[in-house]
Amino acid sequence: MEIPLTKMPTARQPGCPFDPPKELIQTREHSPITPYPFPSGHQGWLITGYDLARSVLADPRFSSRKELMRHHPTIDYGDIEVPPAPPGEFLLMDEPQHSRYRKPLVGKFTVRRMRLLTERVEQVTAEHLDAMEKAGPSADLVTAFAKPIPAIVICELLGVPYEDRGRFQDNIDKFLGGEVSDEELIAAYTAVQQYLAELVVAKRANPTDDVLSDLTDSDLTDEELQGMALILLSAGFDTTANMLALGTFALLQNPEQLAALRAEPTLIEPAVEELLRYLSVLRAFQRVALEDVELGGQTIKAGTTVILSGNTANRDPERFTDPHVLDIRRQDGGHLTFGHGIHQCLGQQLARVEMRVAFPALLNRFPTLRLAVPADEVALRPETADIYGVKSLPVTWDA
Ligand code: HEM
Repeated sequence: MEIPLTKMPTARQPGCPFDPPKELIQTREHSPITPYPFPSGHQGWLITGYDLARSVLADPRFSSRKELMRHHPTIDYGDIEVPPAPPGEFLLMDEPQHSRYRKPLVGKFTVRRMRLLTERVEQVTAEHLDAMEKAGPSADLVTAFAKPIPAIVICELLGVPYEDRGRFQDNIDKFLGGEVSDEELIAAYTAVQQYLAELVVAKRANPTDDVLSDLTDSDLTDEELQGMALILLSAGFDTTANMLALGTFALLQNPEQLAALRAEPTLIEPAVEELLRYLSVLRAFQRVALEDVELGGQTIKAGTTVILSGNTANRDPERFTDPHVLDIRRQDGGHLTFGHGIHQCLGQQLARVEMRVAFPALLNRFPTLRLAVPADEVALRPETADIYGVKSLPVTWDA
């Protein structure tokens, strides 16, 4: 392999569905920061080491503004004009705009508030396990379990009727799945925006007991609320779902870890953190330097795009002992899977509650759970998807 990397890898090594592409690991072994020639011709940087990735995420000299994200890591669109993020889509904004939207939400996603949801998450999980058991002894874990549980929970929390999912679920999958044309992607995004625009108007007219209705009692406009709802719904839908499916796959492929978790249920908290680190479902971040920055012995010029490889950072041997080993008893926490800095995941406590409930419930219900196909036949999401995971996970058990 040539170092530095001249093209982002688009696939993983056969037989290694949980490991970052080997080209990225080799790049980090060469240097935690290397030049990256974007397909558009833009000369950017690729950061693969933990310390540098973490410091960029915390550094206000690196922007998340959508209008600055003009270079795609794998596709040559040329040097395109990108409009700023629509009002409310705060993931793609810097301060002070970002805080206007994040602040009113922080109190609604605290550890305490999310723990209060535990009972409801247990209920939703049990209902899905009942249905799986009844229809079994085999299932696609993605559609029967991993997808619907977080989807129902985020919908109830926000006040988005789950019965309306025909109008948003497939469309969200399209814009996060990395496998549709640009036209389809825009159409899917527009359809979700349209649905949420109607919903915000309805909430303002008839507020109910949920996050979106609460937010109508503020100076936020309908357009802003719609943008916030879109970020919350799409962030809450796909991320935990992929963790549940890919995490189960990883546990089934590591039987001694699975046995340890079954034997010692109190290991669930470190196990969830370790699965987050090991799987890094949000594989990469993108930022743009607002001024010249000295970093890792290099100068990142103002206006330059930087890709931060979360999955190699989470496997950095300078930060984690035996980084490629899944070890649910691991003590060295601090993974970057929920990000770091001002954009650090707002829904992380919710995701934790969901995973801490759903994994043990699944393992308890089906003590003989196993893959129903050879591991190398499990369909993986492409490396180009925003969120990594499996497309389906055929499983079976002894009835
Ligand atoms: C395992 C599941 C999840 C993972 C791995 C994850 C990961 C992330 C990461 C890495 C970021 C920061 C992105 C960046 O810095 O550019 C982020 C932001 C965000 N996440 Fe999550 N997330 C998860 C679940 C959720 C859930 C359930 C919600 C539901 C509300 C959520 C809501 C958000 C929001 C609103 C932001 C934007 C925060 C901001 O810009 O201030 N996430 N998430």
